[in-house]
Amino acid sequence: MTSQPDGQLTEVDHVAIAVSDLEAAISFYERTFGAKVVHREVVESDAVEEALVKVADSYIQLLTPTSDGSTVARFLAQRGEGLHHVGYRVKDCAAALAAAQAAGARAIDEAPRPGSRGTTVAFLHPKSAFGTLIELVQE
Ligand code: CO
Repeated sequence: MTSQPDGQLTEVDHVAIAVSDLEAAISFYERTFGAKVVHREVVESDAVEEALVKVADSYIQLLTPTSDGSTVARFLAQRGEGLHHVGYRVKDCAAALAAAQAAGARAIDEAPRPGSRGTTVAFLHPKSAFGTLIELVQE
């Protein structure tokens, strides 16, 4: 990590891809790229299961719903499998969220909350971010 990152975003933490069949998606990344899953977790609060595939210092986050009420279930029903959100690493999630809101971005989370891997996260609405759901991730 650089000592003086440009702005709030220090790294791309993960690119999240919504999938219907998590095992099939993991198998694709393993067979196609020799990629390795380094973390798996069920995030009860979001009703999702994730598998993180390591790519250098970042991850591909394969994401599947664990219930029909999950926002990822709705996403899959409406749009099918594909790019769901981009997670950017930040030093201070609360500060980055406040700065984004002050600059006019619409927050989905009004305050930072627990994410997977013990991270602290906040989401920004895609409508105010050129169609891409953005997650701010503090490790
Ligand atoms: Co994420």
